Amino acid sequence: REVGPRGTDLAGRRVVVSAGGTREPLDPVRFLGNRSSGKQGYALARAAAARGARVVLVAANTSLPDPEGVETIAVETTAELREAVLGAADGADAVVMAAAVADFRPAHRAAGKIKKREGEDPEPIRLVRNPDVLAELAADRSDPLRVVVGFAAETEDVLANGEAKLARKGCDLLVVNRVGEGVAFGTEDNEAILLDARGPREEIPRGPKEELAHRVWDAVARRWSGERD
Ligand code: CTP
Ligand code: CA
Repeated sequence: REVGPRGTDLAGRRVVVSAGGTREPLDPVRFLGNRSSGKQGYALARAAAARGARVVLVAANTSLPDPEGVETIAVETTAELREAVLGAADGADAVVMAAAVADFRPAHRAAGKIKKREGEDPEPIRLVRNPDVLAELAADRSDPLRVVVGFAAETEDVLANGEAKLARKGCDLLVVNRVGEGVAFGTEDNEAILLDARGPREEIPRGPKEELAHRVWDAVARRWSGERD
């Protein structure tokens, strides 16, 4: 493997990355989902592996090739993602939640395919809240050195919404993406603001998701080295 300018600075570290978007089934053939491609999460996993980390990638409904040298766990629902992430996060040095996690799921999952009824409108779909995996990880400070990173996609008031979300979630770092108008979802490029609960914010200009990934690991590595204490 080619060694980049950052070398193998993450050697000896164990990290977890979630990617893609969770799907919540309505019946055996239908689901509520979102447009996350998983590209940013995969870029994070590849970047960490290239820098020598041991990586577990929890992939929700992606159709991307498994990154080389990474343990990939495929999941569908938020419940499955939560179990896989919390399991892998135990003893890990960092967790990056790049996945788009469904906030709600249908209260009921029909055992058989939902059928139309002649002349009748369908029943409304009742939704219930999903657990917040990032908030759960951030609340668990049993390992004070574990760095917890969230992602936020915002369409407006990007900075104000990002700062509020960082505080609400209680995570260490929050990568705030500007989305909409062809930016971010499914595209090759990303632009973001990297917020640090204890440090200055960093503007990451529009560029490849690989570059954003490396900047995120740079910030995580600074946390480990105590630069921001
Ligand atoms: N997240 C999570 N569990 C959820 C929802 C979100 O772990 N049930 C994580 C995402 O993986 C992401 C971060 O939380 O890292 C922010 O997600 P976002 O949807 O921007 O935040 P929400 O708190 O759900 O706020 P909003 O109402 O704006 O969707
Ligand atoms: Ca959400």
